[in-house]
Amino acid sequence: MKTILITGASSGIGRATANYFSEQGWNVIATMRTPEKETELNRRERVLVTKLDVVEKDTVQDAISKGIEHFGKIDVLLNNAGYAAFGAFEAASDRQVRRQFDVNVFGVLHTIQSILPHFRKNNKGMIINISSVAGRAAFPLLSLYHASKWAIEGFSESLFYELAALNIKVKVVEPGNVATDFTGRSLDFITDDSLEVYRAYTETVMKKQMELFQTNVSSPGLIAKTIYEAAVDPSNRFRYVAGEDAKFLMKTRAENSDDNFMAFIANSFR
Ligand SMILES: NC(=O)c1ccc[n+]([C@@H]2O[C@H](COP(=O)([O-])OP(=O)(O)OC[C@H]3O[C@@H](n4cnc5c(N)ncnc54)[C@H](OP(=O)(O)O)[C@@H]3O)[C@@H](O)[C@H]2O)c1
Repeated sequence: MKTILITGASSGIGRATANYFSEQGWNVIATMRTPEKETELNRRERVLVTKLDVVEKDTVQDAISKGIEHFGKIDVLLNNAGYAAFGAFEAASDRQVRRQFDVNVFGVLHTIQSILPHFRKNNKGMIINISSVAGRAAFPLLSLYHASKWAIEGFSESLFYELAALNIKVKVVEPGNVATDFTGRSLDFITDDSLEVYRAYTETVMKKQMELFQTNVSSPGLIAKTIYEAAVDPSNRFRYVAGEDAKFLMKTRAENSDDNFMAFIANSFR
């Protein structure tokens, strides 16, 4: 029986993936910042709910050790925990900039470094990083989030080659819009009332973003299925685009020059 360790399993894509893998007969190490609040996943068989906050290094090692102790080994690491900062870059505080990278980038890097000795010992393993179409295209007022996801894309693509010889696969899953807490409680609004110059533009972009989220959105369950497809895929495929909106965007990007694609994005947020 195979075992997956998931970060950010308390809600959204992480929770749906924990449920889906468990339903497929996998062992699941469902990690989260506040496991004491969990009431559903810990009632499932073969699911170990345990604490992991990607910015608290000792909790990462602790969750990996507990998972191995409980299930014997870990086959797949899913780096899912993450959030977006939204707003004008000039208004972002140093704390907001650093936190975006601490969670979405350094948290992922540290978790991977912590599990690699286990994967090497087993002579196999798989790392799936939840990136986003936001890791391959950019929209206004999400500069910090894009910087974090583009970092994950380049990092993962390089690691793909580096770990192949050790029989450790690296993959990215790239969802489009997904109906989760991502645009609700998880969103970090960047605001600075003294920067009036960005106000009207921010309101326009926000309105357009919310319209897109209401009309063109995937369920977390659909993303969970794509993650499962990646986990059981014996091929060396690296990228898995998830959701119809994401597929459309990636196709549009591939079929157009950068200038045309960027004009299309600019028009979409006018
Ligand atoms: N929703 C979308 O449209 C979308 C699209 C593309 C990619 N993604 C990516 O999908 C991933 C999951 O997001 P989601 O849509 O499922 O949003 P979500 O429902 O807000 O879930 C985010 C998860 O990340 C966790 N998290 C945040 N900071 C953490 C930390 N320091 N340590 C551990 N866990 C932490 C949250 O935990 P708490 O419950 O403790 O806050 C929560 O479980 C993210 O990487 C996101 O960038 C989302």
